[in-house]
Amino acid sequence: MEKTNLKHIAIIMDGNGRWAQCRSHERIWGHIRGSKIVSNIVEEADDLGVKALTLYAFSTENWSRPVGEVTVLFKLLKKFLLKERSRILKNNIQFKVMGDTSKLPEKTKKLIADLEEDSKSNVGLKLTFAFGYGGRDEIVSAANKFIKENPGKELTEELLQSYLLLPQLGDVDLMIRTGGDQRISNFLLWQSAYAELYFSQTKWPDFTRVEFRKIVEFVSKRERRFGNVCSSDLQTSKMMAVENKEIITNL
Ligand code: FPP
Repeated sequence: MEKTNLKHIAIIMDGNGRWAQCRSHERIWGHIRGSKIVSNIVEEADDLGVKALTLYAFSTENWSRPVGEVTVLFKLLKKFLLKERSRILKNNIQFKVMGDTSKLPEKTKKLIADLEEDSKSNVGLKLTFAFGYGGRDEIVSAANKFIKENPGKELTEELLQSYLLLPQLGDVDLMIRTGGDQRISNFLLWQSAYAELYFSQTKWPDFTRVEFRKIVEFVSKRERRFGNVCSSDLQTSKMMAVENKEIITNL
């Protein structure tokens, strides 16, 4: 397979803690190993022609984790920014962080701001880290912002979408969660209304480019109906229109 028709892929990188615990290591070891494979998946997404890749790196709920673990996640983000900056720029990737980054160290905030600024005109893959992010929080903030700016005006789906954190990312086509659990954990709730969901048993540090590509290939073959019927059924139903009319009349 060369290029995929899936434009926006979101990934919940789960299973780091269990990966480490299975090996009698501290949970943070799993995050460290997990952070090392992020660039492989980014590269593969780019090769597959994905337009946007959004990675769940730190949720609003993650604040309740032990301080040591939170600090490690902060440091891994900083390390990623330092290590991957030149590759991101060279590969024409547009980098962004979505979420509340106010509690990050000033140095990390500056690294984020610089990379966002320097990559803003890039037209390749849109790579976004969701950090300090929560889907419900994003929707409530969007609604509140709209109400404040448009008192008395009725909110529509299109308007709410335009008030999200990064409306340009559009809807999610495929959401992958590694680590074996089957839930979406407050990630991109609005954007995933019609997303295909794929749950992998693989814990994030063991996730590979090969598995990622196989998932993309597998899901690309699924027919997405967006609440409609599949195209062959639509054709049959057109052919059966007269018969259908009779059935409906006799109901
Ligand atoms: C969930 O694993 C994962 C996270 C809370 C953070 C994901 C972060 C990384 C992959 C590393 C950070 C990388 C960068 C570049 C910022 P978990 O701890 O909930 O695993 P568990 O379900 O096994 O406990």
